[in-house]
Amino acid sequence: EVPLDIVLKELEQRDSADASRAMAPLKPADDSIEIDTSCLSIEEQVSVLYDYVIDLLKETNCLSEQFYHPEQSCLSEQSCHSGLDPESNKLDSCLRRNDKRIRLAKHSGYCFGVRRAIQLAIEAKESNSKVFSLGELIHNPKIVSELQEMGIEVINQAAGVSNSTVIIRSHGISKQDFELLLQNNNTIIDATCPYVKRTHELIGNMAQEGCPIIILGDAHHPEVIGMLSYGNNQTIVMAPDDPIPANLGSKVCLISQTTQKLEDLQRVICQLIPQVVEFRIFNTICLATSQRQDSATELAKDSDLMIVVGGYNSSNTRALASLCHQLCPTHHIESEEELDKINLVDYKRIGICAGASTPQETIVKVFNKIIEKSGESGIAKCIEDIPLFKEESC
Ligand code: F3S
Repeated sequence: EVPLDIVLKELEQRDSADASRAMAPLKPADDSIEIDTSCLSIEEQVSVLYDYVIDLLKETNCLSEQFYHPEQSCLSEQSCHSGLDPESNKLDSCLRRNDKRIRLAKHSGYCFGVRRAIQLAIEAKESNSKVFSLGELIHNPKIVSELQEMGIEVINQAAGVSNSTVIIRSHGISKQDFELLLQNNNTIIDATCPYVKRTHELIGNMAQEGCPIIILGDAHHPEVIGMLSYGNNQTIVMAPDDPIPANLGSKVCLISQTTQKLEDLQRVICQLIPQVVEFRIFNTICLATSQRQDSATELAKDSDLMIVVGGYNSSNTRALASLCHQLCPTHHIESEEELDKINLVDYKRIGICAGASTPQETIVKVFNKIIEKSGESGIAKCIEDIPLFKEESC
């Protein structure tokens, strides 16, 4: 029966005392990883941790099948890595001998939100004869069509579906559509990514406080349409290149679509600061997005050509392509077939990165096609065979 503000105050006092004491002050280790668990269930927290551990094991070449369960479809990721694989070492040294470097950005492909959405969809289909997905579950045409073949039908409107099982896509739907689905007696499987859910909650809270809200993002993207629906009549969407809206009051809240570029958010913050007195900023760019952007940028700086793999309608893939494009010639492709039109022979250092809804299988196919077109020998059987940037044995 203690009021929230008292609990909050006491927690803050305790944290401040712990962090500022002279003897062994409480502070995170320099190499610790911070995970915001505010809006994650226990299962989701475990899933985020699992991704970290898998990445760490991949980095240290310690991933074995005992940690990873290979399956045959690209709906569930494959892996064939078995520690220090002599085959992959052979592949890497072969590439180095010919002075050609083909490397993958450290964070590439499926994020936890996408993996979770696919898993929920498959589970829903296993226990229901008919399942609808309101909008495409993820922004990857190949996966959407595989799910459709399994019997998960994409519908584009909430109106007209009743007494059915409906899965909500990873980038969420509008508040009104959600309510309509419930009113029509549907069973909802909510695969909205928890990072997107958090933006809904934050916007809802700010709207209730009567605060004008600016959403930084693409007004036509379903995620942003969903976010907007939680706002008030003073909520607007601003694209990164738009001018700062005129007639801003003294108070404003800025919140970002989860897949925006951090540099754009930083720029808009700097533009807004002189205009307002009270400024609330929520950096809601998701962890998977920032990791993919950082590792793609790092790789692009050390490459002559970047190949960015992912759906054309995928906002996070487009952001990767735009970042890489600033650093070296870049091609955004959806599948390996598109490499036929691209000159690869003249480039010595080719980097590959992939958006958060790109399956490993596609990344492997792209890598192998680049090897083939470059006149190199050796193919990758799975993603762990592809040299990661800064981790290939130089
Ligand atoms: Fe979620 Fe970020 Fe992936 S918002 S769906 S974890 S790209």
